[in-house]
Amino acid sequence: MGYVWKRVLTPAASRLFLYLCIMIIKEEKLTIKEILDREDFTRENIISLLNSEGADRTLLLKKSADIKEKFIGNKVWFRGLIEFSNICSKDCLYCGIRKGNKNLVRYNLSDDEIIAAARFAYVNNYGSLALQSGELESPNVTSRIENLLYKIKDLSKGTLGVTLSVGEQEHKVYKKWYEAGAHRYLLRIEATNQALYNKIHPNDSKHDFNRRLGCLKSLQDIGYQTGTGVMIGLPFQSLDDLAGDLLFMKNFNIDMCGMGPYIEHVDTPLSAYSDELLPLKDRFDLTLKMIAVIRIMMKDINIVAATAMQAIDPMGREKAVKIGANILMPNITPGKYRDSYKLYDNKPCTEDSAEDCQSCLEARVSLADAEVVYGEWGDSKHYELRRSKEVSSK
Ligand code: 5AD
Ligand code: FES
Repeated sequence: MGYVWKRVLTPAASRLFLYLCIMIIKEEKLTIKEILDREDFTRENIISLLNSEGADRTLLLKKSADIKEKFIGNKVWFRGLIEFSNICSKDCLYCGIRKGNKNLVRYNLSDDEIIAAARFAYVNNYGSLALQSGELESPNVTSRIENLLYKIKDLSKGTLGVTLSVGEQEHKVYKKWYEAGAHRYLLRIEATNQALYNKIHPNDSKHDFNRRLGCLKSLQDIGYQTGTGVMIGLPFQSLDDLAGDLLFMKNFNIDMCGMGPYIEHVDTPLSAYSDELLPLKDRFDLTLKMIAVIRIMMKDINIVAATAMQAIDPMGREKAVKIGANILMPNITPGKYRDSYKLYDNKPCTEDSAEDCQSCLEARVSLADAEVVYGEWGDSKHYELRRSKEVSSK
């Protein structure tokens, strides 16, 4: 009976059949060590890694720490973060600065305040700064940011690197800003499973998954170092979704990754699902594992240790740096505005000054046995390699 298949198949086909059966059984039984020894991860491999506990989890984190050491070194680069406005035209269901949140004082730094913060980054030898705000699209916003970019390049004699993170814009706008000196752009895709994306955003043309994807493509085509990422521990999210997110990042060939735990904000619609979420410490742990897996999958990209990690664990960002992250974003937004850029509850450091942030982060980096590199852009090595391959294939 067990050999019926032998009678219906030719000897060669039955050997192939047997081989495939063995491979399928073996695949199911791969240990974490065997998965970590592979060149590429399948979706199932990634799910196993994200599920790992105890000694298996330690193996995963050790492997990613070793890869970081080998490909990046025990180094961290700063991006002085200026959250220059919390005015947003969108209504993402998870975000504290969404347009619909009326329990929030809206602010917009003056150009002089932004330039003063940029000068602080320059004088303190940060190497780079990041300009972030709520999402607005208009000719005024386009030319304002363009002018600011020229001024920042001017005041730093071209030495400050600039990352932009101001959301979805038209291709020609991204191009204008690139020509004005911005060379990195962070646009989190938030969730790559379109069904999940639709559950965490309003169902209208302003929150269109395909537009967001198109924006990422534009950024990459224009020549930006392109960064994306997702939130971890969202309602309705599965490990399969997270595995898909990591495979998306690899296939898209991103240069930078910024991922953080989802933390509910009381004034948002998604906070109604708080009871269905993983406990905060599990969301934190899952974020660490996500960072570890992406570091192993994409050895030379830049990975941010997100502030949201510290909102859960006081040592959150150090832990991220230890196992794979190499970018920190000290907040240099003038103190009086910080409390109003609350994307989620318990956002840390809203009481600190820029100086406080720097010394605190420096101490934190040394706790992670790493060293801050001053005065360098700290570009993604992945980007340099990707661009040189593109040039040589032309
Ligand atoms: N929890 C965690 N991260 C959040 N963000 C927005 N709201 C939240 C939240 N409630 C993240 C999004 C966005 C980035 C600027 O902040 O991923 O892209
Ligand atoms: Fe502002 Fe999502 S709420 S971009």
